[in-house]
Amino acid sequence: MEQQFEQQIDRATAHFRALLETQLARQIRMESGERAKDFSKLATVRIGICGGDGIGPILTREARRVLNALLADEIASGRIELREIEGLTIENRLARGEAVPADTLDAIKACDVLLKGPTTTPKGGTMESANVALRRELDLYANVRPVSVPEEGIDWIFYRENTEGEYVLGSQGIEIPGKLAMDFKVTTDAGTRRIARAAFEYARQNGKTRVAIVTKANIMKKTDGNFSGICHEVAADYPEIEAEDWYIDIMTANLVNPAIRNRFQVFLLPNLYGDIITDEAAQIQGGVGTAGSANIGDRYAMFEAIHGSAPRMIEEGLGEYANPSSLFKAVEMMLRHISRTKQADLLAHAMRICTEEECRVTVTGDRSGATCTAFADYVLETIRKISS
Ligand code: IPM
Ligand code: MG
Repeated sequence: MEQQFEQQIDRATAHFRALLETQLARQIRMESGERAKDFSKLATVRIGICGGDGIGPILTREARRVLNALLADEIASGRIELREIEGLTIENRLARGEAVPADTLDAIKACDVLLKGPTTTPKGGTMESANVALRRELDLYANVRPVSVPEEGIDWIFYRENTEGEYVLGSQGIEIPGKLAMDFKVTTDAGTRRIARAAFEYARQNGKTRVAIVTKANIMKKTDGNFSGICHEVAADYPEIEAEDWYIDIMTANLVNPAIRNRFQVFLLPNLYGDIITDEAAQIQGGVGTAGSANIGDRYAMFEAIHGSAPRMIEEGLGEYANPSSLFKAVEMMLRHISRTKQADLLAHAMRICTEEECRVTVTGDRSGATCTAFADYVLETIRKISS
């Protein structure tokens, strides 16, 4: 081997060793485990609100109005606190050279839950996605994404592993410039076990009878192979629930097959497949603008839309026409997570009226439809009507 490559291989090998060490340490930390926070016991629940980039600040502005209306009494009494979190903008992140600037992360960690607008991720370069960094820093291992199309009997919930797979070392690959590039995919036993547990617990508590474990274990034999194996071990504790194995390619086809798609209930899958298939699922529901997403860990939780910051909408001057439904769904999930079930039900009911039953104000994402504010007004007015 040429001298030049020898050195590069040595450097890459040392890099790889360091990665193995940190990943093993992470797995060992996870094994020691943590107990989930009981929100019904907290004297004050602190909700951080973070605008993000592009259409994010527009959507969070409207979500804040919804929260203020639903939680008015508890905000007044101090049982709930809404905190604006500054600094999670692409300009600040680039200027500081940090995916999540340290002071912003501290402010987020001083809250119990976070409602977050989408953030822009620069393509290439070394800047990590703020989402990925937050999921890692707050250890938000379960990405929970519900999708429903009632008229078709579709009621899906995706449990996507949120801290490992292709994401955990996504910015730490190896390159021999002009020759080859290598990224890493990591599956830990503890990391898989906890997402599997979350999915099967959800299934049990919600009377679901089937969990689809979706991988590409025929090709990714170590990572996906272990993922599937561990999910089946966990499934053994839930004998009333059928655990089925599926490959991701055929599952993407299944989702667009109306003859069978409504038989699926709970999906349990590694990070990247979960990322891709939940966009597909959201599109079936009516677009990524309609789907909410929860990122749940044992100490923190973050709620967001499943879509990005839509820079194109901003460039075209259409930001105010963005659909806030996705973030409103995220608000509903957040309310459930902090045990504000009555308020969550109220918002869900209002959203059903506004987007399925009555649909007096429709957002299309361009000037043919209503603005984000007009739609939020409609939702607020509906909440007032059904709660009086
Ligand atoms: C999502 C998004 C993120 C992801 C991006 C913004 C990093 O697509 O939440 O699905 O890939 O997980
Ligand atoms: Mg995605």
